Amino acid sequence: MPLQRTFVMIKPDAYERRLIGEIISRIERKGLRIIAMKMIRMSREQAEKLYAVHKEKPFFKDLVEFVTRGPVVVMAVEGESAVEVMRIMIGPTDGRKAPPGTIRGDFSLSIQENVIHASDSPETAEYELSIFFDEKDYV
Ligand code: CMP
Repeated sequence: MPLQRTFVMIKPDAYERRLIGEIISRIERKGLRIIAMKMIRMSREQAEKLYAVHKEKPFFKDLVEFVTRGPVVVMAVEGESAVEVMRIMIGPTDGRKAPPGTIRGDFSLSIQENVIHASDSPETAEYELSIFFDEKDYV
């Protein structure tokens, strides 16, 4: 099993609902390692870059508004098969359909305000990490 790095973002709804500690705790308890982390207000430019693949979607404008409306926590997470493991932990996009035990399943009832984002492939992870971190940021 390969050692991988993935990009994770705790979204503004989770910040507003005081869920940051709970979410970080779940990632650590799983055995993954946080190798870089910061709380930021994402710029519109960063949001548009992060979600460039959704540019033509009807929800794109609302999505950019949402992720720039308050603080987010961005992090680089490392571990064996970290990309797939994080995706399993967060659950499907729609919080209403995400199974209990997943982060979205336990904390979201929304397809947009779904608490957390994690990269969907190693290639995407590399791209998304590069928006927020330099190689020197990794401990
Ligand atoms: P995320 O996994 O961060 O990737 C894209 C985000 O767009 C997604 O989580 C949701 O926050 C949002 N999203 C995806 N699909 C929809 C939709 N149909 N309507 C509104 N927002 C969506």
